[in-house]
Amino acid sequence: MKTIHEISGVRDIIRNWRRDGESLAVILTMGNLHKGHMSLVSLAHEHAEKVAVSIFVNPTQFGPNEDFENYPRTLANDKRRLSRAGVDLLFVPGVEEIYPEAQENRTGVVVPGLSEILCGETRTDHFEGVTSVVSRLFHILQPDVAVFGQKDYQQLAIVRRMVADLHMGIEIIAGQTSREKDGLAMSSRNQYLSEDERAAAPELFRALKLCREQLTSGSTDFAALEKEGLASLRQAGFKPDYFSIRQAGDLSVPKPDSRYLVVLAAARLGKARLIDNVLVEL
Ligand code: PAF
Repeated sequence: MKTIHEISGVRDIIRNWRRDGESLAVILTMGNLHKGHMSLVSLAHEHAEKVAVSIFVNPTQFGPNEDFENYPRTLANDKRRLSRAGVDLLFVPGVEEIYPEAQENRTGVVVPGLSEILCGETRTDHFEGVTSVVSRLFHILQPDVAVFGQKDYQQLAIVRRMVADLHMGIEIIAGQTSREKDGLAMSSRNQYLSEDERAAAPELFRALKLCREQLTSGSTDFAALEKEGLASLRQAGFKPDYFSIRQAGDLSVPKPDSRYLVVLAAARLGKARLIDNVLVEL
């Protein structure tokens, strides 16, 4: 595996692959890789001849009081795992490489509407930071395929919309959420949980699954189900931001006859903000 820090170096390698007719799949990450990321790497290998991973803790997607400074950075370990998993190229740019222009003159990409709901209500500039960095990384890497985890369901929907609207011609593939034995979705931020909080954390997935069961058993009172989900999270010690039933395709509010739904929740537990979701087919 080649580890490259400069855009020019990445472009040289990818140009050579292209010349040899090889396809490229990418996984964009902020590092601190866990089994969930590694399952995305396996999925990427199924879709292209070459696999590239980026590790970049993107400052523009963190709010002023969020964990940018403390976000876990574990490059040596990440490199070992990626190399063992057969990754061909690791791109680890510095902030100036990705954002050479001054902060006030930054070119950005905005996906309106979808970026303002759910997580976008409390993390107001977060998704603009995500789409801006993802579009820069896509322009640098020029992949055929990009694999994103389904745990960040809203991010996935926004990236799909951006790629479609800007005619980027990249196939976006969703990787299933990897879970701990007790159901907690794997996330770098789980390590912020204390022992007691870690014991309570699986309640997030339990509440989502219960809501899914109620929906598949014929419940159509979405508002009541959302209220019940919020109450069970509060009961378990969470401070929920939302517990919401939406249409799976565009995250709009479902109609009584909607068949493809997603139940999404975001909730704070101590220092961690956890998100998770389940898909529902009626
Ligand atoms: O999901 C993430 O880790 C980040 O939001 C991403 C896609 C790497 C953009 O910084």
